[in-house]
Amino acid sequence: MRARTMDTQNQRRFSFMTRVLRLGWIPLLLIFVAACHQDMYDQPKYKPLAPSTFFEDGRSARPVVPNTVAVGQVQRDEYFLTGQIDGQPGDVFPMPVTAEVMERGRERYNINCVPCHGLSGYGNGMVWRRGGITPANFHTDRLRNSPEGHFFDVITNGYRYMYPYGDKVTAEDRWAIIAYIRALQLSQNATIDDVAPDQRILLQGMNQ
Ligand code: HEC
Repeated sequence: MRARTMDTQNQRRFSFMTRVLRLGWIPLLLIFVAACHQDMYDQPKYKPLAPSTFFEDGRSARPVVPNTVAVGQVQRDEYFLTGQIDGQPGDVFPMPVTAEVMERGRERYNINCVPCHGLSGYGNGMVWRRGGITPANFHTDRLRNSPEGHFFDVITNGYRYMYPYGDKVTAEDRWAIIAYIRALQLSQNATIDDVAPDQRILLQGMNQ
């Protein structure tokens, strides 16, 4: 009889403890959630453009770190980045075309464009030879007379079956490639008048 009473008492104590242990997490969770919320809510922070005593210049809004650019905030010449003037393709280069630019253009053209447009720009690159698509030939009258801005637009945004290169080739390199395409076009349509007088004699010598 005695033993049974002890048992019952033990059982009661045990079940009380189990309940505490089982339900203990609820207040804990509440404390945790509340604390979390308060911490995040009341964390030390500056409201936009609020003054600050921490920084020497008294501003909480910090100036941009030198030589960094926020995405979408490049401040460059509009023409350099679009090739368009008032929505129309421009017909000038936004920078001087030097031998260095030309060399860079040749390199970038050979990497990015040759597979389709071919080494000389006739549109007969390896992709064309394997069949499937017909890349443009740069030596048609239309493309010889197309303004630089049109080429820039095509490279940047793509053109019908050609996909865009705006995310793969920098604007600077796109202009360099265009300079090189101009050289290719000239090379296939030049006359003796395009050759400097002191060089003509060399060409005439080669023809004989
Ligand atoms: C994967 C193949 C491929 C590559 C690489 C490629 N192109 Fe093209 N490109 C084409 C095709 C195809 C067309 C013709 C699109 C059409 O008319 O449907 C074309 C058309 C063009 C045109 C003519 C647009 C017009 O007015 O008719 C230009 C200019 C041009 N590409 C420049 C370039 C330059 C510069 C590069 C390198 C940066 C390049 N392409 C890389 C496939 C390519």
